[in-house]
Amino acid sequence: MPSAALAGTSASARAPQIGPFVPTARLPRHVARVAQKIGRVTGVAGPVTTIELDAAPAGQAPPRAEIGSLAKIRTRTAHVVGIISSLRQTGQGPGPDTVVVEIILVGEMAHDGKSMSFARGVANFPSIGDEAFLAGHDDLAVVYCKGSVAALDIGTLYQDPSVPACLLADELFSKHFAIVGTTGCGKSSALACILHRALERHQYAHVIVLDMHGEYHRAFGAKAEVFRPDNLYLPFWLLNFQELRSVLTSPEDHHDAQSEILCDAIVVAKRRYADAAAGRLRNRTFDSATGTVDSPTPFRLSDLIAYIDEQLGKLERSYPTLAYRRLKLRIEALASDPRFSFMFGNPNMEDTMVDLLAQIFRVPGNGKPVTVIELSTVPEEILDVVILLISRLTFDLAVWSDGGLPVLLVCEEAHRYIPADDRRGFLPTRQSLSRIAKEGRKYGISLALLTQRPSELDTTVLSQCSTLLAMRLATESDQKVMRANVHDSTFGILEYLPLLADREAIVLGCGAPMPMRVKLNELAEGWLPGSGQVRFTDRWARPNMDRPRLEETVSRWRGRKL
Ligand SMILES: Nc1ncnc2c1ncn2[C@@H]1O[C@H](COP(=O)(O)OP(=O)(O)O)[C@@H](O)[C@H]1O
Ligand SMILES: [Mg+2]
Repeated sequence: MPSAALAGTSASARAPQIGPFVPTARLPRHVARVAQKIGRVTGVAGPVTTIELDAAPAGQAPPRAEIGSLAKIRTRTAHVVGIISSLRQTGQGPGPDTVVVEIILVGEMAHDGKSMSFARGVANFPSIGDEAFLAGHDDLAVVYCKGSVAALDIGTLYQDPSVPACLLADELFSKHFAIVGTTGCGKSSALACILHRALERHQYAHVIVLDMHGEYHRAFGAKAEVFRPDNLYLPFWLLNFQELRSVLTSPEDHHDAQSEILCDAIVVAKRRYADAAAGRLRNRTFDSATGTVDSPTPFRLSDLIAYIDEQLGKLERSYPTLAYRRLKLRIEALASDPRFSFMFGNPNMEDTMVDLLAQIFRVPGNGKPVTVIELSTVPEEILDVVILLISRLTFDLAVWSDGGLPVLLVCEEAHRYIPADDRRGFLPTRQSLSRIAKEGRKYGISLALLTQRPSELDTTVLSQCSTLLAMRLATESDQKVMRANVHDSTFGILEYLPLLADREAIVLGCGAPMPMRVKLNELAEGWLPGSGQVRFTDRWARPNMDRPRLEETVSRWRGRKL
């Protein structure tokens, strides 16, 4: 059972901190322990049930029904549970103050002989006259706080902070999830809350974080293997033909001709590498009978160039050679570009594929289940290629291992490389991530998308996320996209999006037992992601840049060395 003592917010009630979360003393209960009767059913129309509230006894305040609160209706066989979606004073009932409440039904509570349990879906519909109650603390605990290892308590309920709010780990991870909200509202920290809880309980997890701001190494400390441009080597020969073509050919002129030449050149280069390495390696890397231009086997750029030169030598004088020359120039330029050295830079061409996959995908994990790939200093045009390779390797490894490696791929700032606008972004990267979004779950790949601009994220990818953690969203276009993507009938609670405080989220979809408004747990300083936001008042209070540092910056800038 998740401990309520771990969850919480109040700064005044802190106990000594061990582990990622700031512990707090037990938080005050906001609702009565047991359910309070509030009225009777006066109308039922599909999932919407109307209730007329009882008049409060003279001198007493009525139970406080609010939008988003949980209510339950006693039918003949079960307690049907719903969320209050509207409140209205009619002036038509027995008194002038009759209040009518609409509830959207979402599930049922039943006693199985041992304990109360809750399940989504309604089989026993209420009827006119059934009694309605405002859910009590005990009901909230049954509905929202599943006591099992498969439940991750990540915060507390807004309706009652003494009840932990749990995510259903299997539903959450197996069907992708998204965390959206404006900058600074706590998305990265929310992800860290989820992962810290998951890693506490599952030491054989595999998590890859595409870290756009260089902030996660702080949060995961010794549990993370961190790759930066200077220690990440992703050999170019891991790219498939379509990807190599996008990187190596210039789209403007003779594109088809360049592609044809490149295709032949790659096959020849792969064969030459396999021939040359045949004596050294136990298995032949490339077999002409089974290998194709897409096989991820090593080859040398020098063999590509040699092939192009040979072909140029064989051509008739009058034959147009521009496509050959362009291709050769582009390959040479990329091979000598220091920014691409993570891909083209290793002179010791070896078949390092297994080592590379073992490192990136943590096989074995060696106590570091998280791989953080820091991309904050990677230039835009290269970023796409790195993300492309990581995402496609994730997909292909999952397919070829028959789903043998359950992995979570976290995409920070997802709108930057899976944009809604077709004309933006790098096509192979978009395609690779869309494929994971659509088919990944079949092979045990889970996606976590984080974005501050859901309206700029590819809608088909967003719609594949079955769980949404929606944090504060101020712009109307972003709120609209969220409403359009929520299949839950209780989407009315999204009206709160602009009003949410920091660290607050509305959780919808199958990763939550019920739609819920949550205050996320507070993470302790050393466990928070965060690039150490620039505090101008601190930095301006003492000297910051000096002449030697400026000179060193210019030299790195000129040498294009990060
Ligand atoms: N769960 C949390 N626990 C503690 N501090 C938090 C939490 N969520 C947010 N914060 C504070 O808010 C800041 C911004 O949060 P962050 O997760 O980086 O937001 P976002 O990713 O949405 O830009 C953090 O640096 C931290 O100070
Ligand atoms: Mg962030």
